[in-house]
Amino acid sequence: MFSSTTPALKTFTSLQEAQEVAACCNLCPLGNGRTNVVFADGNANAKLMIIGEGPGQQEDTSGIPFVGRAGQLLTRILESANIDRQHDTYICNVVKCRPPHNRVPTKEEAAICRSYLEAQIKFVKPKIILLAGSTAVQYVLQVKDPISRIRGKWFLSGNDVKVMPIFHPSYLLRNDSREVGSPKWLMWQDIKEVRRALDAFSESRQCLLDTLA
Ligand code: URA
Ligand code: URA
Repeated sequence: MFSSTTPALKTFTSLQEAQEVAACCNLCPLGNGRTNVVFADGNANAKLMIIGEGPGQQEDTSGIPFVGRAGQLLTRILESANIDRQHDTYICNVVKCRPPHNRVPTKEEAAICRSYLEAQIKFVKPKIILLAGSTAVQYVLQVKDPISRIRGKWFLSGNDVKVMPIFHPSYLLRNDSREVGSPKWLMWQDIKEVRRALDAFSESRQCLLDTLA
């Protein structure tokens, strides 16, 4: 699928090792233009992982994913379902360095950066992964269906992780209507479904504790 010039995926023994290696990564040209590597934000023990496309300007400047306007909207959407970004989620991107002019990362860049994303999934061990926007959907789920058709649907990954495509928050910034059926309204339905899934995990743990009591 990826070109033969793509370096073999590295495997890491810890999340910290992956982050340290990423911090001085120059495996693809995006490394030349960055101010900061944008590895992740939030809680590495969270059940919920959110994967976006790549850092924008403010993320590149701060080294933190989803801090610009789209990120602030994402934070508010999560809050509306009582999901605390810092405590309840681990947020990262398909690529860790900002593409010039915010262009979509190329297949090669995404493939090279995948070692880091794979380490994040392996060591954070989320129960639920949200893929924000079509870039994350294409590179992680490897499906090309339009977001509007597959958002809000659960995909079950091999290791029992529930994966849901959602609209990218920057798409919601461009589509401001909150009417029934609008992208913002649909996002609200999706985030409520995520809330229910998180609650169901806590309930099943509770049941297990009940049977042990
Ligand atoms: N858009 C993304 O996909 N990721 C970020 O971190 C910021 C904006
Ligand atoms: N296209 C995208 O890339 N993302 C969206 O959220 C919607 C359309």
